[in-house]
Amino acid sequence: MAILEVKALETHFRTRRGVIKAANNVSLALEPGHILGLVGESGAGKTVLALSILNLVPFPGKIVGGDVLFQGRSLLRLTARELRTIRGKEISMISQDPVRGLNPVMSIGPQVEETLTSHLRISKREARQRALALLRQMGLPDPERVAAAYPYQLSGGMCQRVMLAIAMALKPQVLIADEPTSALDVTIQAEILSEIRRLKEDCDAAVLFISHDLGVIAQMADEVAVMYAGSIVERAPTAELFRRPVHPYTWGLLRSLPRLDQQRQEQLPTIRGAPPSLLNLPDECPFLPRCHKAITRCRTSSNPLLHPVGARQEVACYNPVVYDWAPDGPT
Ligand SMILES: Nc1ncnc2c1ncn2[C@@H]1O[C@H](COP(=O)(O)OP(=O)(O)OP(=O)(O)O)[C@@H](O)[C@H]1O
Ligand SMILES: [Mg+2]
Repeated sequence: MAILEVKALETHFRTRRGVIKAANNVSLALEPGHILGLVGESGAGKTVLALSILNLVPFPGKIVGGDVLFQGRSLLRLTARELRTIRGKEISMISQDPVRGLNPVMSIGPQVEETLTSHLRISKREARQRALALLRQMGLPDPERVAAAYPYQLSGGMCQRVMLAIAMALKPQVLIADEPTSALDVTIQAEILSEIRRLKEDCDAAVLFISHDLGVIAQMADEVAVMYAGSIVERAPTAELFRRPVHPYTWGLLRSLPRLDQQRQEQLPTIRGAPPSLLNLPDECPFLPRCHKAITRCRTSSNPLLHPVGARQEVACYNPVVYDWAPDGPT
């Protein structure tokens, strides 16, 4: 049973130059004890989707269609106060951008303590002790010094770990992690990833894990959704998606990864062209200008909808990649 469901979500930014359709009929479901990976190029709409879930889309953005259900209740219809009690306690977010995720004029310690005291009945002293323990747990070596510092006095990676401490403080049922390790080096990245996995396992939390790093997604996610130009174009269990990508975009993404089990090629293949602007998107498939498999129907019909192509795989494409082996056949 899904704990959080996004249904046909449409988030638009109305600008003077036109409408930016950052989320286009997006549907997904998060289940307890599962990590859903969300991948896509820069500008695909991953962060806007994450912010839409918490009803935090910045102006001039607006959710113009669809719904977000948490335990069956619409988050978009709650009052600001009701939403505040859910945010942080039941649903937490690690923001990609420390400026958005942390208060720049408040030192770190009180920010972590505030999360604890606003939802739990504990003394200030206990909150302080718990905050220091959380900072230490997130791999920050000198928690007292970090607690006394302001965000601008810390590196990007340290801010990311502070946000993780805040997000994990109340053991949320849903964690939205937007590029949680992008500013970290690999050893610390591994620690943070294991903290997220621990939250999933110990607390049965549902996680939306956003990254453009397919290697990290492969390690972390149980299921993957691929986002392109504001739409989910393919969705499958992780092993299935890596073994048998069927959308030409996913296929291209995976082909452009370096592989250790193959002879080094002169140059890695790339996907031709550039991602489209989301401004005044045409009604047709947004991948069409870059697609090597486009057929007449792609030019004459509107943007394809997600449809099943296997027991648990879905694709939004009129001419997906086909394989001449069974899904459980040779890799
Ligand atoms: N405040 C804003 N005003 C206008 N357009 C915006 C705003 N925020 C985001 N957008 C647009 O929404 C689209 C999606 O942006 P988003 O930040 O969600 O991409 P992303 O997939 O998270 O990229 P990245 O991997 O770089 O983080 C972009 O085209 C962006 O220009
Ligand atoms: Mg982003």
